[in-house]
Amino acid sequence: MTDSKKTFGVIGDPVEHSKSPNMFLAAFEKLKLPHDYQKFHVTSKDLPEFFNRLQSGEISGINVTVPHKIAVMDLVDGLTPEARAIGAVNTIYNDNGKLIGHNTDGPGFVLSVRSQFEDYDFSKAKVAVIGAGGASRAICYSLLKAGVNDLLILNRTFDKAEALQNDLQKLFDDKKIQSATFKNDVNLSRRNFLINTTSLGMPGQDWAGFEFIQTLSENSIVADIVYIPKITPFLKEAQTQNYQTLTGDGMLLYQGVLAFEKMVGQPADSEAMSKALSQSLS
Ligand code: ATR
Repeated sequence: MTDSKKTFGVIGDPVEHSKSPNMFLAAFEKLKLPHDYQKFHVTSKDLPEFFNRLQSGEISGINVTVPHKIAVMDLVDGLTPEARAIGAVNTIYNDNGKLIGHNTDGPGFVLSVRSQFEDYDFSKAKVAVIGAGGASRAICYSLLKAGVNDLLILNRTFDKAEALQNDLQKLFDDKKIQSATFKNDVNLSRRNFLINTTSLGMPGQDWAGFEFIQTLSENSIVADIVYIPKITPFLKEAQTQNYQTLTGDGMLLYQGVLAFEKMVGQPADSEAMSKALSQSLS
């Protein structure tokens, strides 16, 4: 049986920076699929009109990037439990004529942990997450879903950390979830998994003073979701302190792999996607 050609794409404003075309086109080629993948520059004003093209089937599925991840929730026919809990959509696929909004950002982070640390036992992780924005919400939800029982949310603005804590506690009432203000002298004593979900560490975003990393327990994992540069100053410090590190390109790859599977309806080729992503980031 041969697949008929379909069009997929990514919408955003701006959209030029997206690495999704590189990953999807590499997987289409490797899997010998005739599909096309395009970048669609869509402004907020043009969003409803763009949805007509999805509804008509002209476009079979899309990745969604800033600033549309929340706005599209009102335009789809249904949401997956992940998208509803995370409160944002990064993937829209067609399920028997219905447009379904899904979120693979958090599940992508969990998969990146699993791919690097085989048989990782999430139930034993004592996690500290820096940041309480959209990326943090996605990661925290998916980590709790994956089995984490002990989570501390640290944020510059305490109210946002507390609000996220309260939202998550309602969904996971048997788990220990705490929040605190993030300061460079925070004590992470006995925690063994630290994740930076803020844009700190990106070029132009100075972040001085990582002494708090030393308060983790030995053999901790330190992760950053910033992927340019691949080894952020935060991860460099973690390496210096002999912690295990997880780079942000893993989450980017696996959110794409999981989006591919929903949108295209078959397993992705993660190796081809990984190679294409590395090339586009270098
Ligand atoms: P995203 O969707 O990428 O998570 P966001 O929702 O805008 O983006 O959230 C950004 C996060 O980075 C927030 O937790 C923000 O902290 P505040 O809630 O205090 O604003 C955090 N952040 C951004 N710049 C920061 C900085 N210079 N220092 C500390 N935290 C910062």
